[in-house]
Amino acid sequence: MSRVITSFTGEVAFVTGGSGGMGRAVSIAFAAAGASVVLCDVADDTGEETVSLARDTGGTAIFVHADVADAAQVEAAVGVAVEQFGRLDCAVNAAAIENESVPLHECDDASFDRMQAVNVRGLFLSMKAELRAMLAGSHGGAIVNIASTNSFRPQPNQPAYTASKHAVLGLTRSAAIDYAPMGIRINAICPGGIDTPMLRNAMARRGRDPQEVAGRLSLLGRFGRPEEIAAAALWLCSEGSSYTLGHALSVDAGYLAR
Ligand SMILES: NC(=O)c1ccc[n+]([C@@H]2O[C@H](COP(=O)([O-])OP(=O)(O)OC[C@H]3O[C@@H](n4cnc5c(N)ncnc54)[C@H](O)[C@@H]3O)[C@@H](O)[C@H]2O)c1
Repeated sequence: MSRVITSFTGEVAFVTGGSGGMGRAVSIAFAAAGASVVLCDVADDTGEETVSLARDTGGTAIFVHADVADAAQVEAAVGVAVEQFGRLDCAVNAAAIENESVPLHECDDASFDRMQAVNVRGLFLSMKAELRAMLAGSHGGAIVNIASTNSFRPQPNQPAYTASKHAVLGLTRSAAIDYAPMGIRINAICPGGIDTPMLRNAMARRGRDPQEVAGRLSLLGRFGRPEEIAAAALWLCSEGSSYTLGHALSVDAGYLAR
């Protein structure tokens, strides 16, 4: 269930990784709250499913195929938002990969490079295109980058992913400083264990018991729902967070507090 926490009627939102768990929930929540949504992803079928779910709320959504690691594809995807809806107000960057379970000395170079290409370069390219669109509109905006509790406290055997999620905070804070004068607020969310295909695949790969993992990662003893991340993302894009800039918001059921 997505809950409307504020109205985004008349606003345009762009979401990367919109075919997957959190990106899908964010896209649906924006559409339900009145925004026109453009979502991109490399997964086409599930992207169109997100569009259908977003339209079921009565909202407006378009899917664009784009690999965030490819500058031309990301620019074209952001371009669709501006061409179709005339402006860009909000962006949530959720696209990422996580597919490792080895310590650094066993991490192969190609895997490391691809992780940084998607999780770091992809986020950099997405922000670049989003910022250019927002600056062209001269009416400010808000960007939310999905980092991780790994940005502060790594899980074992995730060297490349952990490095990439530290870099997400670096890009977030650096840009928050540079674009505050232009009225563009940039923040990050650090999710804990959220029930998405990424988490389910990671647990299966490592042969982990979901109940044990949820008990270890969450003071509530359960995984988070993608909708709980969407609620935080919409708040960070809303006027309700007008004094919040360069922040890393943990949405982790207290994992980092322990
Ligand atoms: N699930 C968790 O427990 C958890 C915890 C902390 C942080 N995160 C972060 O949250 C974000 C969302 O993850 P999720 O759990 O919803 O994962 P997910 O795998 O369900 O969704 C990620 C989406 O990104 C897309 N994607 C992957 N590579 C892409 C590329 N090159 N270009 C465009 N799209 C691409 C995938 O196709 C997928 O639809 C990610 O940044 C992830 O690192 C997840």
